[in-house]
Amino acid sequence: MSKSDKAKPAGPPNHVAIIMDGNGRWAQARGKPRLFGHRAGAKRVRQIVEACPGLGVKYLTIFAFSTENWKRTQAEVAGLMLLFRRYIKQETKDMVGNGIRVRFIGDRIKLDKKLVTLMDKLEKVTAHNDLVHMTVALNYGGRDEVARATKRLAQEVADGKLKPEDVDEETLTRFLDTHVLPDPDLVIRTSGEARISNFLLWQSAYAEYEFIDTLWPDFTPEIFAAILDGYGNRERRFGAVPK
Ligand code: FPP
Repeated sequence: MSKSDKAKPAGPPNHVAIIMDGNGRWAQARGKPRLFGHRAGAKRVRQIVEACPGLGVKYLTIFAFSTENWKRTQAEVAGLMLLFRRYIKQETKDMVGNGIRVRFIGDRIKLDKKLVTLMDKLEKVTAHNDLVHMTVALNYGGRDEVARATKRLAQEVADGKLKPEDVDEETLTRFLDTHVLPDPDLVIRTSGEARISNFLLWQSAYAEYEFIDTLWPDFTPEIFAAILDGYGNRERRFGAVPK
């Protein structure tokens, strides 16, 4: 086999998606309330986003709150919502200055109006940035997203704007919350759980997965870099036979 016949390693992933899990256990291990862990987790978010340009990652998508997370206690849900508001207020200026473009995915209907206003504003003021594209999944569920997209698609069919025979994968993709984003190349989940919990179901069809034991508040840029190193040597086939 000549050198050029060898399968090419993946190189750095363009889009990394992270399921940030383990905040609760991290706090409990320190005898602290769960929100203490979420606050520590929020601090990590900033470090990881800022590490992206140096690691060759252009798109970072993080799972902040799922459609299923409403089942938590009222106190935890309220504390998380307050944390998101505070985080946006505190970080906006630096995100604008540091070239970070922020987008939110998920259903905003159930979210507090004050939070939605802050989310809209953050999207607007970072819209010209292009160094890192950070997407925050908030009240997000993969099945919910596909159901909402299908509803809008069906409406276009009902209105005569779209013919059923013209609907294909690309059509549905256009109706998803993530329509402007590339598919994730790598999905990381922290805290030792090996499941995807309704995260980017459609988009991750060909993603590589990495499940690591580290709890999210302990997830350092060094650990992130090591995972990306491992990913860079993987061979991605997208269903094809290696050359
Ligand atoms: C999962 O840990 C984490 C969450 C449900 C919330 C994620 C939120 C953050 C990291 C904080 C802030 C984020 C932003 C964008 C400011 P868990 O509570 O399920 O942990 P456990 O499995 O140990 O209980």
